[in-house]
Amino acid sequence: RDISPDQDKNQDDKYNHRQFNKVVFLTGAGISVSAGIPDFRTPGSGLYSQLQKYKLPYPEAIFEINYFKKHPQAFYTLSKEFLTCGSHFTASHYFIAETNRRNRLLMNFSQNIDGLELEAGLPESKLVQAHGHFRTAKCVNCKSVADINEFYEAARNDKICYCKKEKCDKGIVKPDIVFFGESLPPSFFQQIDNLKKADLVFVMGTSLKVFPFAALVDLISDDVPIVLINRENPGINRNRFLFLEGEIDDNVEKIMKDISWDFPEIKRT
Ligand code: OAD
Repeated sequence: RDISPDQDKNQDDKYNHRQFNKVVFLTGAGISVSAGIPDFRTPGSGLYSQLQKYKLPYPEAIFEINYFKKHPQAFYTLSKEFLTCGSHFTASHYFIAETNRRNRLLMNFSQNIDGLELEAGLPESKLVQAHGHFRTAKCVNCKSVADINEFYEAARNDKICYCKKEKCDKGIVKPDIVFFGESLPPSFFQQIDNLKKADLVFVMGTSLKVFPFAALVDLISDDVPIVLINRENPGINRNRFLFLEGEIDDNVEKIMKDISWDFPEIKRT
């Protein structure tokens, strides 16, 4: 595929015949929509349009650390729904894992907390979950590690899970999801060098509205092509840029067919 339409012919040839072995994916909620998990900002279907029952001051409050400390039940109830939604990996997760199986993946920087990349076979060492995940939990007060299964149990039963440490005054247990007002995990900053080493970057399923993740795009060198797969362009404007507009699964499946990568029948919710 021609990924450099504005460049001169020699440059085009160079890119069209190039093998990419240092691929990086920057991903967001859009890649899990066909798994049955809503994104955040699509009007109507996005999570932020569907939170009326929580009576929040504004939708993002459900992921704000100060709001959570005062009103944990909203996030616990949302977690119960999320944990029981029966999601499955999508063509995008498969494509990322397959890129790794073919030794062409440097890293997947994901904003998603669902971990579906791992279900598709991506090893944890190739995944930066910039906004955390549901695999471990901590007390929000004393920061000691808590049992994630106790969090699950509490969420399922509409209860709140509190810290058991004697010295802690019943701090609330929260999965290691990064809330607004918290720092991103060290791995996010440690792995940025891998983005700088990339020879091809896919940006998929994100509105690039949340920083510092959104700023990753600015760290990609000008001579490295970016392929954006999304319903709309969140504002990327540069040379060496291909925008595959539309449904992610359709585009990803087309790419895999074009490059003759086999892929299994993947369910779409
Ligand atoms: P958004 O909901 O902001 O953006 C999802 C993007 O995916 C939008 O541009 C959609 O148009 C696009 N999209 C959705 N479904 C699609 C489909 N089937 N085909 C093609 N495009 C599709 O989600 P993120 O950018 O991931 O953070 O949001 C970033 C962060 O905001 C989240 O990690 C979360 C949230 O607040 C925290 O809570 C800390």
